[in-house]
Amino acid sequence: MIDKNIIHEILETARIEEVVNEFVILKKNGSRFLGLCPFHNEKTPSFTVTPKLGIFKCFGCGKGGDAVNFLMEHEKFSYPEALKYLAKKYNIDVQEEEQTAEQVQALQEGESLYHVTDFAAKYFAHILFNNEQGKAIGLTYFKERGFREDTIKKFNLGYAIDEWSNFTDHALKNGYKKEFLEKTGLTIVKTDKMFDRFKGRVIFPIQNISGRVLGFGGRTLSSEKKVAKYLNSPESDIYHKSKVLYGINLAKKAIIEKDNCCLVEGYTDVISLHQAGIENVVSSSGTSLTTDQIRLIKRYTKNIIILYDGDTAGIKAAFRGIDMILEESMDVKIVLFPEGEDPDSYARSHRSLEVEEFISKNSANFIFFKTKLLQKEAQGDPMKMANLTREIVNSIALIPDKIIRTVYIKECASLLKIAEETLMNELNRIRRKNYDNKIKESRKDDPQEKAKPVTIIPIQQQDGDFLSSEYQEKDLIRLLMHYASSPLKFTLDENGETKTWEYNVASYIIDDLQRDEIKCNNDLYQKVIDVTALEIEGGSIPDKMFYINHQDKEIASLSASVLTSKHELSDWSKVKIKVTGEDDKLIASVTSAVLALKLRFLEKKFDGKLKAIKNAKPEDELLILVSQRRIQKKIEQISLALERIVLR
Ligand code: CTP
Ligand code: MN
Repeated sequence: MIDKNIIHEILETARIEEVVNEFVILKKNGSRFLGLCPFHNEKTPSFTVTPKLGIFKCFGCGKGGDAVNFLMEHEKFSYPEALKYLAKKYNIDVQEEEQTAEQVQALQEGESLYHVTDFAAKYFAHILFNNEQGKAIGLTYFKERGFREDTIKKFNLGYAIDEWSNFTDHALKNGYKKEFLEKTGLTIVKTDKMFDRFKGRVIFPIQNISGRVLGFGGRTLSSEKKVAKYLNSPESDIYHKSKVLYGINLAKKAIIEKDNCCLVEGYTDVISLHQAGIENVVSSSGTSLTTDQIRLIKRYTKNIIILYDGDTAGIKAAFRGIDMILEESMDVKIVLFPEGEDPDSYARSHRSLEVEEFISKNSANFIFFKTKLLQKEAQGDPMKMANLTREIVNSIALIPDKIIRTVYIKECASLLKIAEETLMNELNRIRRKNYDNKIKESRKDDPQEKAKPVTIIPIQQQDGDFLSSEYQEKDLIRLLMHYASSPLKFTLDENGETKTWEYNVASYIIDDLQRDEIKCNNDLYQKVIDVTALEIEGGSIPDKMFYINHQDKEIASLSASVLTSKHELSDWSKVKIKVTGEDDKLIASVTSAVLALKLRFLEKKFDGKLKAIKNAKPEDELLILVSQRRIQKKIEQISLALERIVLR
């Protein structure tokens, strides 16, 4: 139990922005801070921290609260755990008493497996430094590997005594339940006996960002081939291999400072590099790299350097990693270590400066890396060269950002001495294929979808929901399909100077929707928007036939119904607009259709805020009001713009 006065002191002292900043990069924005929400995946920041009120709030997913709530949500702390974390951060003494076995039991019931893993990590570390066997075998091993004592302590390394159930017995005696020992995987329970998973191994505790122990890696000291070199904790309620990066708790600060993260393969690579002064390093120990792990890094930096062995396995893993990282819109460089070396061995046999120099001298951007490797393999064979080109363009095609793709295509063209245009065509072909596959893939998951006959959306707005945007969406799609390739010419007189812009209807609509991140509610309409965007990106202008002949049956059939229904542009002459030719009519129709959809979109958002205010805690109200007002302003602007089109 923590004393009431101390709780008060903790809450008074804790600064929300400092607490959150440990986990989320925050940028100052007026009196508030903005960042990417750690609770859901987002591209534009909607996560706000308001120091004055001591609260955080995400407008994307709705999560919000004070510093304690944040820690409970983010770190899955219990209330007392969150308080203790804050107390430690702000050097407030909570005078924790030794817990009795009964207290431990009571805690475990309501709380989590963290107690067990924390207890185990401390025990293994204690053994390493204090027990005869621990010192003679474990500590000696680490020292022989070149790990300094401060490094060993920093990484909480340990040793598990080589007896069947030394750890399990010790834990049971201290009140930890068999059930939890088994759930964390520390103890393997057989019908008639229990034994320690990690017995006789040196221990690498795996910690999360705030340093909580989630699981363990244990390395055998025997050189027997039959024994697995590493054993890892099994998945548990607290340990999800695919979401964890070894070393992240110690690397986080350096990653932010250097705006770069080194990714290595193993526990010992992380530790050795860290000891050599390269602290922005993590590894995906125990699994091959996952998207969740990449996103964890992305919270702190967009730049990754992959440092892998130069053997075939390492290269293969690097190739896989590259594609996954590119797909997350991040920048990736690669350093391969000489055959037979890994970052750990290299760091041990070289001075810190040499290691840094090696990395900076040998890090190649992925195009260069892939090109050189594959070129060596192809040795001028034209068939092989063609495959190599495709292989590289495949990677580039995964990058979501068009501009970056274009830059890479240029670089690739000059490296391979192939015309840019050829590569661009190949890129578009691949992107189209990927897109089709994705659609097919999403259908596969839903067997009903396959059997379902293609439905045609009724023309009339038929639902009672007054905020439905179905009508506006449909109107826009109709214009798009009809007039996709028609030119739109805008002229503007400014200080006697006449400026003109030329668009076509399709690119005008796509650009405008994308700029405000507006998505259709109706999935089929959004699909039409997506394929149109893709087509434009590929450098061609879609026209009616593009939709009518589209591979996607739903799109083709929608276009059939839309294009055959008698559709004419609204008669703007009736609504007081001076419409002279067809051209003006088209401009008026298209711009107002886009604006109408935007307006509807904002109205929906506005309504959401209204509802949110009704259910909000008093401290949240202010924040919601502010954002509501912002939306209102935009609505007014758009309404005005719409009027201007009609009344000009
Ligand atoms: N690994 C594993 N299980 C194994 C082998 C490897 O989980 N049987 C994981 C470990 O996380 C290890 C990483 O893969 O750290 C890289 O493997 P490897 O290069 O073989 O190990 P090193 O880290 O180099 O270990 P050491 O230097 O102690 O041999
Ligand atoms: Mn090694």
